[in-house]
Amino acid sequence: MKLPEFLLDLAKASNQEIYLVGGAVRDLIKRIEMKDFDILCSKNAISFAKHLEEKNLAEIIAISEEFCTAKIKWKINEDKFVIMDLATARSEIYEYPGALPKIKFPVLIRKDIARRDFTINSIVIKLNRSKFYDPFKGMKDLRNRIIRVLHSKSYIDDPTRIIRAIRFAIKFDFDISPEDLKLIEQALADERIIGIIKEVRGIRVGIELKRLFEFDYVAKALYLMTKLNVWNICALNLKINMKNLFKHNEIKSWEIGLFCLFIDNDPSITFEIFEKLGFTSRVINQLKKILLLLDVSKIEISLKTYKIIESLEDEFKECLFLLQPQMKTIYNKMKISLPEISPEELINQGFKGKAISDELENIFKKNYASFNYNDEKPAFLE
Ligand code: CTP
Repeated sequence: MKLPEFLLDLAKASNQEIYLVGGAVRDLIKRIEMKDFDILCSKNAISFAKHLEEKNLAEIIAISEEFCTAKIKWKINEDKFVIMDLATARSEIYEYPGALPKIKFPVLIRKDIARRDFTINSIVIKLNRSKFYDPFKGMKDLRNRIIRVLHSKSYIDDPTRIIRAIRFAIKFDFDISPEDLKLIEQALADERIIGIIKEVRGIRVGIELKRLFEFDYVAKALYLMTKLNVWNICALNLKINMKNLFKHNEIKSWEIGLFCLFIDNDPSITFEIFEKLGFTSRVINQLKKILLLLDVSKIEISLKTYKIIESLEDEFKECLFLLQPQMKTIYNKMKISLPEISPEELINQGFKGKAISDELENIFKKNYASFNYNDEKPAFLE
């Protein structure tokens, strides 16, 4: 685990204690690419930014006097630079759920860390000494793959953290701690919290939802949102808002989402609504196929069924496997049961017309049946 050279240079040029905070530290420990560089300053971020500009080391892009923050462009060399956000250590007090917090700065670094969302995002590195500071045991949770807030009022203070918890859980394949699941449930029993989440247009909730759905695993996100009862709340405003929310996004995300929501309804009504909402026939066809495949007791093990699953686009396939995990096992078994012989070879052997597809179907079924469930390898591959 090595800090990028430019952060050490930044520390050398600093006129106060500075810390690397937030996602970058977490990503550094996880050995994944660091994206955003958030720097916490012990005294004053604006004076630090000005100090760097005077020394011709960085260019100030933006300043906020209200929050005492600055955005800078740090020159690595003549044609390479990196953008960094500098903030002054601050405390935040929420007067009511979802309120914009009242802030105070500068405060002790520990106070700034204590206002943050999850333990995994609360590890900081003091850059002047290249030293970790981890007062909330974030390292341990990172190792144990757990999402956990720093205090029990966190989700109430800032309900967007419910959506963030889902995003981090999916992004890193972590579990939300059992205590946090309880806290989320309690928060969602509060009308004020429901009001905030329901308002998907509300800027902060909207931004977090957008970030969640920009992510690759849309079906997983919806699954977890549905499980935690968050999706229903967003969906209260769905028909009017979702289209706008995902305007710049892959349209599939909200389409699959709606589908998950309607799964227990009468399919004819569901698809009528989908048509009215402007779903394309391509998407409707994919969703209809999923519906056909949900009841495992009714599906026929056949080449035809395999081809239906195979024709699902990746995102829809993932949606099917989440809604019906058994189908993934069946699909994988089907995949290795495919006939080793091609239709052309069967023609050469004298098969004609329908007899070709019948024979392929026979071989497939035989292969599938010969799969020895106790073994790793199917019998016919031995
Ligand atoms: N943060 C918070 N509460 C929020 C949003 C952000 O406490 N509702 C804090 C967290 O400490 C977080 C940091 O601000 O790590 C930066 O926020 P953001 O850029 O949104 O998240 P990252 O953790 O950097 O995640 P990602 O890498 O996915 O952007």
